[in-house]
Amino acid sequence: MSTKVTRRKFVTALAGLGAGSLLPAGVVFPAIKTSKTSSDPIVKGAMIGSSRGEKWGEKVNAPGYRILSSGGKLLDAVEESATVTELDPEDSSVGYGGLPNEQGVVQLDASIMDGPTHNCGAVGALEGIKTPSRVARLVMERTDHIYLVGKDAQKFAVMHGFKVENLLTEKARIRWLRWKENMSDRDDWLPPAEGAEWYEKRLTGTINILGRDSEGNFAGLTTTSGLAFKIPGRIGDSPIIGAGLYVDNEVGVAGATGRGEEVIRILGSYFVIEEMRRGKSPGEACKAACERIVAINRRSGKKKIDFNDKFVAINRKGQIGCYQIQGNKKWRPSVSWIDESGFHVHYGGYLFER
Ligand code: GLY
Repeated sequence: MSTKVTRRKFVTALAGLGAGSLLPAGVVFPAIKTSKTSSDPIVKGAMIGSSRGEKWGEKVNAPGYRILSSGGKLLDAVEESATVTELDPEDSSVGYGGLPNEQGVVQLDASIMDGPTHNCGAVGALEGIKTPSRVARLVMERTDHIYLVGKDAQKFAVMHGFKVENLLTEKARIRWLRWKENMSDRDDWLPPAEGAEWYEKRLTGTINILGRDSEGNFAGLTTTSGLAFKIPGRIGDSPIIGAGLYVDNEVGVAGATGRGEEVIRILGSYFVIEEMRRGKSPGEACKAACERIVAINRRSGKKKIDFNDKFVAINRKGQIGCYQIQGNKKWRPSVSWIDESGFHVHYGGYLFER
């Protein structure tokens, strides 16, 4: 099972903190429990988890868990945890500071789903709004629709009082410019001063938030700036209900990160939920989704898997798991969460050594 590293009493860390505020600097959750087993660990009671691991997980999960543990709503909790990353200019894959499309414009995707009502909402290719997950929730709760995209999603956000801002940070602008200058030696862009460099990998980055309240209800949220340097207007898996996110209150919640087109092709998160419904544990179900992606690529004659995808999930028993297509000893898929016993990280498996 897991090992516990005691830092400080969990309840003490929560005392005196208002719901929704960020943890003050220096306040930490008491335990990192790192599961080294291949079987899925069990979460205790109400929890907020995310696809971020040891490095960022505590920072992301804490604000949501604080809302839950002080009697707040599960949807408020998952939304609050998502906005931690969306508002962080240092995170280059979600919200403000995310890497832009090929024209240097940041376009964001997000979705949210509520277990008890089976309601959902999503936004795609949303520009100028730092917190797409809040807009996705408004689509779910304030309209009779599920998806709003592009300029009209932005207009809807403005109607609800959101400010349109420049989301391209200096760090992201410089990375975008370098990408452009490195693209080809047959265009008019000269290589950067530090020399030409070939980027083999396409950068993606996304965060899934998984939530369960004390009554066993689930909610989930997925948010991203999508594939770096994408064609303008491209929408990945994150806002597609069933692809980047799915919740079924009778089964659990599942989310995906990585190359979105591959996840959409198999409706990955829905696939994971249905595998859990048929009796697979979350880790096994996530593995089955990775295998399905590889199988359809092989079937279509692809020789090399030059992308990665990861799934995370939790089931009604409270088992939590994750799996990804490619990994290695240093770079394993992880899922982290905070429950009544503290902060935990679980490492799952992968199909191929990278
Ligand atoms: N999974 C994020 C994306 O492909 O957009």
